[in-house]
Amino acid sequence: GPYEGSPEVLEARDLPSVAKYMKSPECRKVFVMLGAGASTSAGIPDFRSPEIGMSACCLTQSNLARFDLTHPEAIFEINFFRQNPKPFYALARELLPGRFRPTPTHSFVKLLHDHSLLHTCFTQNIDTLERRAGVPDHKIVEAHGSFANQRCVECRAEYDAVKMRECLKTGTIANCNQCGGLVKPDITFFGESLPEPFHRAVPFLRGADILFVIGTSLQVQPFASLPSLVPEHCPRVLINLEDVGDFGSRSDDVIILDKCDNVVRALAKELGWEEEFDAAWQET
Ligand code: APR
Repeated sequence: GPYEGSPEVLEARDLPSVAKYMKSPECRKVFVMLGAGASTSAGIPDFRSPEIGMSACCLTQSNLARFDLTHPEAIFEINFFRQNPKPFYALARELLPGRFRPTPTHSFVKLLHDHSLLHTCFTQNIDTLERRAGVPDHKIVEAHGSFANQRCVECRAEYDAVKMRECLKTGTIANCNQCGGLVKPDITFFGESLPEPFHRAVPFLRGADILFVIGTSLQVQPFASLPSLVPEHCPRVLINLEDVGDFGSRSDDVIILDKCDNVVRALAKELGWEEEFDAAWQET
C-alpha cells in the first residue's frame, strides 16, 4: 500500500485515532477477520510464512518427508486426503482441544464482545481458539469449517463424534459405517464450498462500522474478498506482519505491520481496557 512509514510511526499515529473512533457513538458494529497469524504465538505455525510455516509444527521437515507432502496445502486437498488421510489425521490430532491456549489477540476479540462492539468474528482458523477465549459461538463464523462434526467423504453420512475423537487420539483412520468410505471432519478443503453460516453472515459486512483484518495473507478465496464488502465510510484496519490484499487503496485504510498480540495490547491500552485485557488473557 502507499504507507511507506515504519510500523512504529504508523502505530503511534494510528492507534489513538482508531481508539477514539471506536469510542464514538457511530462505531457500533465491529467486524473481525482472523487468519493463522492470530494463533502463531500460541505455537500453531501459519501456512505461508517461510520461516515459521506449517512445516514447523507437527509437520516438521522429517514428517513432511515421511508424509511425502509435496506442499503443506496438500493436507487440505481432497484427492490427496483420499489417497493418504494420515497427514490430515495427524494435524487434527495436534489441534484437538486442550493442546493450545488462545492468544492475546483472541482475548481482544472477546473484549470487543464484552464491550458490546463485536458483531461478527470471521475466522479461517480451525483451532477453535476464538471459542476457547470466550467469544460466544453465535458471533464466530468458522469460514473453513471446524472439528465439531465429521462425515463420510463418499456418502456424506455423519459419523459419531466420540468415535472420531477416539480415532484421532489413537491415530487410526475412521471409516464410514454405511459405505466404508473415509471419514473427514467438516473442515473446508480446497475446492469445497464454504459452510452455510459463512454465506449467511457475509451480507452483514455491508453494515460494518469498522473492520479488523488480523494475521492473514489474504491468499485464499472467497475469504480474501470480504474486506472489499465493507462500506466506503468503514475504516479497515490491517494488523499483520506484511502488507496484504488491497489495503492502502482506500483513504482511511489503517495498516499496522507488527505482531498482532503487541498491536491489540497497545490498542486495548488506548481504549482504557488494559486491566481487563490482561485479566481476560490470564483466564484463558
Ligand atoms: N502477527 C501478525 N501477523 C502475523 C503473525 C503475527 N504474530 N504471524 C504471522 N503473521 C502473518 C503472516 O505475515 C501472514 O501474512 O499472518 C499471515 C498468515 O498467512 P497464512 O500463513 O497464509 O495463513 P492464512 O492467511 O490464515 O491462510 C488462509 O489457507 O492453507 C489455507 O485453509 C488454510 O485457512 C488457511 C488459508
